[in-house]
Amino acid sequence: MSSFPTKRLRRLRYNSIVRDMIRETVLTKNDLIYPLFVVPGTKVKHEVRSMPGVYQMSIDVLVEECKELVQLGIPAIILFGIPDHKDEVGSGAYDPNGIIQQAVRAIKKEVKNILVITDVCMCEYTSHGHCGVLDGERILNDQTIKLLAKEAVTHAQAGADVIAPSDMMDGRVAAIRKALDENGFEEIPILSYSVKYASGYYGPFRDAADSTPAFGDRRSHQMDIANSNEAILEAELDIEEGADMIMVKPAGPYLDVLYRVKEKFGIPTAAYQVSGEYAMIKAAGKLGWIDEQRVMVESLIAIKRAGADMILTYFAKDVARLLK
Ligand code: PBG
Ligand code: ZN
Repeated sequence: MSSFPTKRLRRLRYNSIVRDMIRETVLTKNDLIYPLFVVPGTKVKHEVRSMPGVYQMSIDVLVEECKELVQLGIPAIILFGIPDHKDEVGSGAYDPNGIIQQAVRAIKKEVKNILVITDVCMCEYTSHGHCGVLDGERILNDQTIKLLAKEAVTHAQAGADVIAPSDMMDGRVAAIRKALDENGFEEIPILSYSVKYASGYYGPFRDAADSTPAFGDRRSHQMDIANSNEAILEAELDIEEGADMIMVKPAGPYLDVLYRVKEKFGIPTAAYQVSGEYAMIKAAGKLGWIDEQRVMVESLIAIKRAGADMILTYFAKDVARLLK
């Protein structure tokens, strides 16, 4: 390769036309998945304290929101439910008339052209806030995956387009795949939260989804923040078990992991820019310490550059407006 002064990289940074021509990574609306929180009741639109611009919504409000998303060109949503009643075994999660099941039916009835992804876990539905059924303080893996499979089937029956297990139990993708197939949903894809870290960045989400564990933490099933080889194993097992798409979560602080996973498997890969990543950018923006819009775009471009095909982000509406 030639070097300076023959080579001058600044030549192609000279003006915006040239820069636009040689740009390697482009963010589009097709990359976006917007997370939404559903609560019981009607006409509820309650802003999450630690997530400005993000709301808990009742189903009637949610349906109108989805229509707006279609107008904005956002192709997909992921739904999280907050039930009116929680119990030890999280029965609201797999109730055919649970909050998510009702929400999916309503959206499917009234909104055309939006991909509905449902998050499958137990922690929003259990009285103790853990991601599965307990024996004392231990989460029982094999009992939990049976319930997750039931939950997934009820989501598919309600009309969900994609099932996204976020629980991090071992063997859950296989259990869900089998249950979906046995119930005639062999064409419904699974987007697995394959590489999900036990992260402090989920703090604001737990306000939004009311899912803070009553005791302990999630370190017995979510990944250790220090590990990256293990991420490859997690992804590999999920793909073997039938995951059609995989996810890395959080996104921004784990771009190295995202890059490795995408390089290694090359299958459609999502990254979740989680609540804490959103809250930090919003907060610093509000204080005037950073240019919020600029950092929002930069954070999303970085995630895509690292290998994400899709990004779950609370900024979806803001960035879609910008891309218009
Ligand atoms: C539920 C779930 C969580 C998130 C997505 N699904 C929380 C958790 O594991 O505690 C976090 C998303 C976010 O922080 O935006 N298992
Ligand atoms: Zn959970």
